[in-house]
Amino acid sequence: MADFLDVVKRRRSIRKYQDTPLSSDEVVALMTPVLYSPSSKGKQAVEFILVDQKDMLERLSQAKPRFGTMIAGAALAVVICGRMDISDVWIEDASVAATMLLLSAENCGLGACWVQIRERLQEDGSPASLAVRDMLNLAPEQEPLCIIAVGRRAQEVPPHAEEDLRWERMKFLE
Ligand SMILES: Cc1cc2nc3c(=O)[nH]c(=O)nc-3n(C[C@H](O)[C@H](O)[C@H](O)COP(=O)(O)O)c2cc1C
Repeated sequence: MADFLDVVKRRRSIRKYQDTPLSSDEVVALMTPVLYSPSSKGKQAVEFILVDQKDMLERLSQAKPRFGTMIAGAALAVVICGRMDISDVWIEDASVAATMLLLSAENCGLGACWVQIRERLQEDGSPASLAVRDMLNLAPEQEPLCIIAVGRRAQEVPPHAEEDLRWERMKFLE
């Protein structure tokens, strides 16, 4: 298993994937850290819909025009939904889980990319979340935040250079 900082440094958004499925062991390894995510008041107001059917991956890729097209080529799409009825800070809970998933993918040697759904529109001006809701037949209390596309990487993206870290964004209170 890789060192934590190594995983953090190596993680980049990967948008091209090989056309091979993930094994069920790989999916378990990928998702286990996600279930350890912290959540407000420990309420875990997040649910995950795992999609690996090609036709549904293709459909989901159209929920977010242009910036979600890579979903069609992914081995797995994890639709991250907040439960608004469980927590008023479901967006935070879901975002923490999504971040954990991106890091877990890197740790597993896979590539992944966040596709934003909440507050994003389709070309006709309708919410992308509505399209996802219809495609997956989500319950009214499930609100899709984002979709994480995952697969075996078919592109290499170098880590961000350490010189580009903007330390000026951080300072001790004087
Ligand atoms: C909240 C959020 C929304 C994002 N939405 C998208 C998206 O819809 N489509 C996409 O291709 N990438 C999306 N990304 C990935 C960013 O474009 C990417 O993280 C950023 O360009 C930095 O590149 P890196 O992830 O390789 O470090 C999103 C990332 C975050 C955190």
